[in-house]
Amino acid sequence: MLPQKHLFQLPEDGHYLNCAYMSPLLKGVEEAGIAGMQKKRNPAKIRQEDFFAEAETVRAKFGQLVNGHPAQVAIIPSASYGLQSAISNIPLNNGTHAITVSEEFPSDYYPLKSWCTRFGKDLIVIPPPESSPEKGKIWNELLLEAINPDTAAVVISSIHWTNGTLFDLGKIGARCKAVGALFIVDGTQSVGALPIDVAAFQIDALVCAAYKWLLGPYSIGLAWYSPIFNHGVPIEESWLNRTNAENFAGLTNYVDDYKPGAARYQVGESSNFILLPMLHAALDQIAAWGVGNIQQYCRQLTTPLLDFLIKNGFGVEVESYRAGHLFGFSLPDGLDRSNLLAAFQQNNIFVSLRGSSIRVSPHVYNTETDIRALIGVLEEVSTRS
Ligand SMILES: Cc1ncc(COP(=O)(O)O)c(C=O)c1O
Repeated sequence: MLPQKHLFQLPEDGHYLNCAYMSPLLKGVEEAGIAGMQKKRNPAKIRQEDFFAEAETVRAKFGQLVNGHPAQVAIIPSASYGLQSAISNIPLNNGTHAITVSEEFPSDYYPLKSWCTRFGKDLIVIPPPESSPEKGKIWNELLLEAINPDTAAVVISSIHWTNGTLFDLGKIGARCKAVGALFIVDGTQSVGALPIDVAAFQIDALVCAAYKWLLGPYSIGLAWYSPIFNHGVPIEESWLNRTNAENFAGLTNYVDDYKPGAARYQVGESSNFILLPMLHAALDQIAAWGVGNIQQYCRQLTTPLLDFLIKNGFGVEVESYRAGHLFGFSLPDGLDRSNLLAAFQQNNIFVSLRGSSIRVSPHVYNTETDIRALIGVLEEVSTRS
């Protein structure tokens, strides 16, 4: 795959290696947003069908991306919203504890912590090993060992958001199924850039904010819920999710039924006329590139950087437990972090500091020039230290 920078409008003088913070807008996504906004100039042209058609398309496209049925997809405003829907519907008789990993993203941690406190369950947090060349492997093993018949649910991100540690979703999903635990996955930092399959990995809920690797706008996301959740209680009661929603003249003939599948978990005003067309355009572009190709592009692009890091004593996860599109590295002794961050700033290199890791997260708009610039700064600051 060739670089796709021409499809974005990033400034020429910067090196944006921070998609895990927020993706830049594709030109096509921006155009879809502007067209969506302009539609409301004349509401007479917004038809009743428009409240439903675009939403159905987006649900179908996300279903294709993660290998799940479109009826099980819900349009959500944020990862925290989608996670709350899943976590508050974990059956109370499913076990005595829930499991997550250390430094999980707050949108996962807070609803899980609150569910545990409210219902008298233990929250087990699995830390990584202190120091080990096989940190990712051992962390995965510790997680798998902790899952037992008393586990109500495992709630984790598909890769660790601070440093890209890969969690073996296939093995964790299988273990959850074997003991009857629900497997709730936050895909915000991977879906769109790393292949994921809800059926193969036996996932019960997969929740994604769209503004990172789905290349969508802010304040919209998508979630897939397994049929286990089809009779749960939603956060809010949007009329759009009821079986009579298409009949605008008869909305007050109130009904008890929700639309099938996971529709009950959709946010109010899910037919957002600006954000949905943007997300639709982004999903089309991701499908056209192919998620596997995006992952491979990122991995190949960053190979010289990883070679440099490994050769010069920076800490990185081994390749089999490290995502290609998002990874962290720690600094060798003696290299001053604030000097490095200042040098990144001076050279217009955009990465993130997360926990103790410097997090690098490229995408197909990045080129060898960006990677060379990053290596150049690391070399320069290392020699100065
Ligand atoms: C793993 C993960 N989940 C979710 C989010 C965003 O959550 P929310 O949509 O609740 O703001 C982030 C943002 O950095 C993240 O890294």
